[in-house]
Amino acid sequence: EVSPHRHLITEKKVQATLPQRLGHIHKGQAGRALVIGGADTMPGAPTLTTGACLRAGAGLVTTVIPSRIKYSVSQKITESTFLFLKDRDGEMTKKALEEDIPFEQFDGIAVGPGLGRKIAKSVHPLLYGFSGPAVIDADGLFHMSKELHLWSEKPRQSPTIITPHPGEMAMLTGCTIEEVEKRRFQCSREFALKYGVYVVLKGPFTIVTTPKGDQWVNTTGNASLAKGGSGDVLTGIILAFLLQHSTVTDAICNAVHIHGKLADKMLETHDIISVNASDLILTLPEVLKSYR
Ligand code: APR
Ligand code: MG
Repeated sequence: EVSPHRHLITEKKVQATLPQRLGHIHKGQAGRALVIGGADTMPGAPTLTTGACLRAGAGLVTTVIPSRIKYSVSQKITESTFLFLKDRDGEMTKKALEEDIPFEQFDGIAVGPGLGRKIAKSVHPLLYGFSGPAVIDADGLFHMSKELHLWSEKPRQSPTIITPHPGEMAMLTGCTIEEVEKRRFQCSREFALKYGVYVVLKGPFTIVTTPKGDQWVNTTGNASLAKGGSGDVLTGIILAFLLQHSTVTDAICNAVHIHGKLADKMLETHDIISVNASDLILTLPEVLKSYR
């Protein structure tokens, strides 16, 4: 059934709302982004998020990773700066995350890609005092699912965007994956209203739900995205777009639409089984230009 608060994300709307870049802008105004993630077994996730964030137009990106992977990650990214945090068992410690990051220097945050689950961490204390938009993805959502009481007791005053795949949504809601899949709209809406967050429920036809319950459905993308790393790329695009759009909803919808378009563009030259997440990042310049 069609309900009045559900919309499609249209090409036309994306084109009309994609960020412009004025001639006199400086890098600070294009957005100072912070990407927090990575563990010894997952150095690629924050690398992809950072790469996508840069290509999607953030002015300055800082990547926060465990010290143990400093060389492998920093060799792969030329344009971001780094903060290396104290780690244990190959993951950043809760204490380092809470005490050693200068959050006030940034306009937006993404936390979670490759963060790891071996040692306990909490995302609420990191983000609660931060006054810009915050994206929570991947293992960030795992830690969030253990501290939901904190999110209802002390809701953030700035936008929070969660980007679960159906498995992560099941973890957050206590539903089974089958229930989430069967009730994608309802699950997203219930969670968004209950916790006052934007929910990006991923999968074919990703649904973006606002804290008021409005829903936007994406129609771009294809099964080439069913490969590790594609979600990490989306997170980087969302973060960059949040810093360059006038509304949070436009930023998220445009990011989801463009991310799918990257995969669609790739199929013009690549076989559907051969698209890697890093190819998506390399395709951003061409796809974004096609919307001008
Ligand atoms: N059709 C269209 N889009 C798809 C399809 C499909 N068949 N399959 C996946 N996608 C898109 C999703 O909409 C989403 O944008 O690809 C992306 C996949 O994101 P994730 O599921 O987060 O995948 P991934 O990048 O592998 O995540 C890496 O983080 O979330 C954890 O458990 C996950 O360990 C994994 C890691
Ligand atoms: Mg993921």
